Amino acid sequence: MKRILVTSALPYINGVKHLGNLIGSQLPSDVYARFMRSLGFDVLFICATDEHGTPAELAAKNKGIPVEDFCQEMWLMQKKIADDFNISFDHFGRSSSKQNYELTQHFALKLWENNFIEEVEESQVYSLDDKRFLPDRYITGKCPACGYEKARGDQCENCTKQLDPTDLIDPESTISGSKLLEIRQTRHLFLKQSLLKNKLEKWINTKEKWPTLTKSIAKKWLNTKEGLKDRSITRDLSWGVPVKKYGAFWPGFEEKVFYVWFDAPIAYIAATREWSDSKHDPDSWKTWWLNGEGAENVFYVQFMAKDNIPFHTISFPATIFGAEENWKLVDFIKGFNWLLYEGGKFSTSENRGIFMDKALDIYPADYWRWWLLSNAPESSDTDFTWASFQSTVNKDLADVLGNFISRVSSFSVSKFGQKIPSKGKYGQLEIETIEKIDLHYKCLKDLMESIEIRKSCSELRTIWVIGNEYLQRAAPWSVFKETPEKSQMIIRFALNLIYFYSLISEPFIPESCEKIQKHFQFNKMKTLPQNLDSFVDALNDTHEISKPSIFFQKISDEEVFDYQMEFSGN
Ligand code: 2FM
Ligand code: ZN
Repeated sequence: MKRILVTSALPYINGVKHLGNLIGSQLPSDVYARFMRSLGFDVLFICATDEHGTPAELAAKNKGIPVEDFCQEMWLMQKKIADDFNISFDHFGRSSSKQNYELTQHFALKLWENNFIEEVEESQVYSLDDKRFLPDRYITGKCPACGYEKARGDQCENCTKQLDPTDLIDPESTISGSKLLEIRQTRHLFLKQSLLKNKLEKWINTKEKWPTLTKSIAKKWLNTKEGLKDRSITRDLSWGVPVKKYGAFWPGFEEKVFYVWFDAPIAYIAATREWSDSKHDPDSWKTWWLNGEGAENVFYVQFMAKDNIPFHTISFPATIFGAEENWKLVDFIKGFNWLLYEGGKFSTSENRGIFMDKALDIYPADYWRWWLLSNAPESSDTDFTWASFQSTVNKDLADVLGNFISRVSSFSVSKFGQKIPSKGKYGQLEIETIEKIDLHYKCLKDLMESIEIRKSCSELRTIWVIGNEYLQRAAPWSVFKETPEKSQMIIRFALNLIYFYSLISEPFIPESCEKIQKHFQFNKMKTLPQNLDSFVDALNDTHEISKPSIFFQKISDEEVFDYQMEFSGN
C-alpha cells in the first residue's frame, strides 16, 4: 500500500492567520490528506508552529510577556483554530520542541563535518539606539528589486525576493523606528549552497510533474547568482535553537541561534518525531523519513504559499543533500498564489480582511472551506469578494446540494414514512445517471491524486448537479399518483445518492457531511466507494430515514453588506 506523507507549511506563531494563509497550505493539504486516507492510503499529515526568529520575539515584546509564554499561548490558539476548521493533522507540533533542537543541531553538525558550513565574518546592521544587531524583521526599508516601501530584512513580501538587511534602501529599526544604524562585523555560519548546485539541479530536473508555479520558482532560484548564494544560517538573537555541536556551544556562538529558516523545515521531521514519541513508538518516525527504513516507499507532498517555494526547493533540500545521510526528500511540492481581499491585500496591521477566528464566529467552517477550495489560487492569485462568497455558498451548498437533500427527504418522509421505500427496479434513467456520475467521480479521484484542488471541486459540484437534474427529469412527485412504485424507486435511488454524496464530499466539507450521515443514520465507511454503480443499493429497506433538516442556511444581502463594512479595515 502506498504511504503518503503530507506536510503543511508551518504557520508563524505570531498572530492569528487570515483566510489567505488557510488556503495557502493547511486547507488544501487537509483535503488531500483526507481524500487519500479515504482512498485507503496510509497517510501521515504533519504540521507545527514556526516559533523562532524575529516575529515571535517582536510580538512577545509588544505584549510584554516572555517569548516562551507567548509561544505556548499562541500554539494552543492556533491548534484550536485548526481543529475548528477541521484540519485533520495527525500531529500539530512546535518548532521549539526538544526534538527540533536535537535535529537542527544534528543537521548543522553533519553539514559542518561534510564541509558545507563555514564561519564567515559578516557585515550586519547594528542599531545604536537599540544596542543590538538588527537581523531579518528587526529592520524594514525599501526593496531594492521592486521598490516596495515596507520590505523586511529577510524577504520582500511584495516580490518574494530574499534579502539581507544590508540590501534595504533607507532602512529603519522595527523595534524603535531609529535610523541611527551602522554596519558592524559579526561572525556567522554560512551554508555553502553553491557547492550543491549540480545535485539540486539534477534533482529538480527529475521533477517533471511538479506544478508550473513550483518549477518556475525553483528554476529561477537555481539559475540566479542570488538564489544559490551561500546563506547565513545563524542570527544575533536569543530566541531560537542554540548553536551547538557535540553537545557544547559552538565556540564564539554562545549568544547566537540558528536562523529560523534553517530550523523550521527540519521541524517537519521533528514534529513527526514528536508524533511518534507521543504514541510511545519512538522509532516509527523513521519509516517516514529515512530511506532504507521504510521512507523509500513513501510519497512525500509539501503544501505552501509561493513565497515559501525557494526555501523548499533549494535551501531545505540543500540541507538534506549536504547532510549526506539517508533522509527522505520531498516528492511533490504544491505551491499556491495569493488570496486577495476585495481587490487588495489582506493586512493584519490595517485589520483588513477576514482572519481565521473571526471567520468561524460568523459562518460554519464548511462555508469557508468550500469557497476557498473551489477558488484556490492555483494558477493565479484569487480575489475573495463577499459577493462571490455569498453566491458560491448559496448556489452550490444551499441550492444544489442542500436542496437536493431536502427535496428528496421531505418527499420520502411525507409519502413513505420513515422507512426507505423498497419497491421498483432501477431503469434507463438511473443507469444513465450512474454512468454519468461515475465518469465524473473517476475524474474527481484522478484530479485529487494530482492535487488539482479547484478542478476537483468543480467535478464534485457537477456530481451534485447531476443529482438535481436526475430528480427534475424523474419527477417522483408527478409519477407518484399513477405509478407509486416508480416513485418509490426514484426516491430510493436519490437517497442512495445522498449517502454517496455524504461520503465523497466529506474531505471538502467534513462537518456538514458528518451531520448528514448522523441525521440519516448512514453507516460510516472507512474508504470511499469504488464507484456509484457498486454502491447504489447500499441503503436497504431496513434503513430508516428521519425528517428533513436544513443543512445549509443561505447568506442574505444584509449580512453581506454588514460584513463588507466590518472587515474593510481601519
Ligand atoms: O511563511 C511562513 O509562514 C513560514 N512560517 C513557513 C515555514 S514552512 C517550513 F519550512 F517550516
Ligand atoms: Zn520587492
